[in-house]
Amino acid sequence: MELQEKARTPLPQSTTPILERHRLAPSKTVERLRLVVLGGPDQGAVWEGLQDEALLGTDPSSDLCLTDPTVAPTHCQVQRTAGGLRVLDLGGAVYHRAVRVHDVIGRSPLDLTLGGSCVRAELVPLAVEHRLSPRIRFGRLEGASDAMRELFAVLERLAGADVPVLLEGETGTGKDLAAQALHQNSARASGPFVALDCGASPKGLIESELFGHEKGAFTDAVQERRGALRAADRGTLLLDEVGELPLELQSRLLRVLETRKVRAVGSDRFQTVDVRVLAATGRNMIQEVRAGRFRSDLYYRLAVAVVKLPPLRARLEDLPLLVTSVLEELNRRRLSRGLPRYPLLPAAAMDFLLHHDYPGNVRELRNCVERLAVLGLDEPEVPGDPEGPSAPVPGAPEEGMVRTDLPFHSAKELWHDAFEKAYLTSLLAAHRDNISAVAKASGVHRRHLQRLMLKHHLRG
Ligand SMILES: Nc1ncnc2c1ncn2[C@@H]1O[C@H](COP(=O)(O)OP(=O)(O)OP(=O)(O)O)[C@@H](O)[C@H]1O
Ligand SMILES: [Mg+2]
Repeated sequence: MELQEKARTPLPQSTTPILERHRLAPSKTVERLRLVVLGGPDQGAVWEGLQDEALLGTDPSSDLCLTDPTVAPTHCQVQRTAGGLRVLDLGGAVYHRAVRVHDVIGRSPLDLTLGGSCVRAELVPLAVEHRLSPRIRFGRLEGASDAMRELFAVLERLAGADVPVLLEGETGTGKDLAAQALHQNSARASGPFVALDCGASPKGLIESELFGHEKGAFTDAVQERRGALRAADRGTLLLDEVGELPLELQSRLLRVLETRKVRAVGSDRFQTVDVRVLAATGRNMIQEVRAGRFRSDLYYRLAVAVVKLPPLRARLEDLPLLVTSVLEELNRRRLSRGLPRYPLLPAAAMDFLLHHDYPGNVRELRNCVERLAVLGLDEPEVPGDPEGPSAPVPGAPEEGMVRTDLPFHSAKELWHDAFEKAYLTSLLAAHRDNISAVAKASGVHRRHLQRLMLKHHLRG
């Protein structure tokens, strides 16, 4: 999580009882992932970062970029996991204490040999501690994990700061909820909150949705339109899926943000607007800027503070809280229709929920809980597979593969893994290992695809 702006909102008073009730720690020590080259042509090179994974290889896009010709372009990956450091070989052989390793988890520090180079992978504590909020809710966002309480601490400070914020995260991680919560906890709360999905409208329309148009400005403009920027005057505008904004409009938007004056399509009058702009994206915007698809000046204007929403699989400890509130919400709806409450989910259902990856994050969890509440555990669908295993997926495991000698959950887990592997193998082959094409065809986020490929040792 990057935070480049100091903000002001004070902590709520008397936080200790909340901390005690939920046994929450007030802060956590942060560790950096560090890679040090101990031997070989690059001896002395060091890479350090707060991210959870680092690529090692000779490819310039590697985090630790080596010049050793015996090292592969994408040689291996080191990941920070709850159990320790995980090392995955990708394009080259990795040895630890003279034993070849393919996918291992070990305690920091780990000395690894890649070709003619020796690299130490370790976790080093940072001098500063990250403050964790005593809250387990911020607006409609919920979570008691360190990751969420760290997020809440940042959002609390940003809410009062009136600066642009870029919200990054996979689908369903709560970017919309975070934007609404920032608005509701800001001095603009009594003003409007307007969300504009920059990817939802055709190119021609998005211009007038954003800037407005005069009556008669173009053939279909039978009425004047105010546009999102003016509609959000004295309030907050969320530019959702901002990475989809066409390049031609990006410079116009930048001018509005700099001058605070907007001119509707077909008008020659400028009108002053007072808007706080928030932006949300599931894309890696730095990559978009590098690829020339997003203007860097607009990016820096929008990303005064960057907030990353953690994926659900990285904070499964939030599941009990989230499941309870989804059930409560379902029950409120049922009671209002005079229907009996759903009971709490049985332990087996919770166990089932804990064993999934949630590419669709909290949105997917909500659907699963609703399905479990209505249909119980016998329902054959699995999370992340909305069509269900009976859908005609090329390469899906055959019925004979189902391990009836195992308990239900283990058998299902194996089936699920085999399905993922067969599905991806087949799609990668069909798209000649082009990950972007596979992401598009499967509807699975690119980053999640890469995780699945690592998990199943598939190379794109
Ligand atoms: N931390 C959370 N606590 C409670 N509900 C959540 C949380 N995160 C997401 N949700 C729920 O998940 C669903 C998706 O949330 P939201 O629309 O904010 O996600 P998003 O990141 O904007 O997704 P997308 O990228 O697909 O637009 C909503 O129903 C929301 O209520
Ligand atoms: Mg959204």
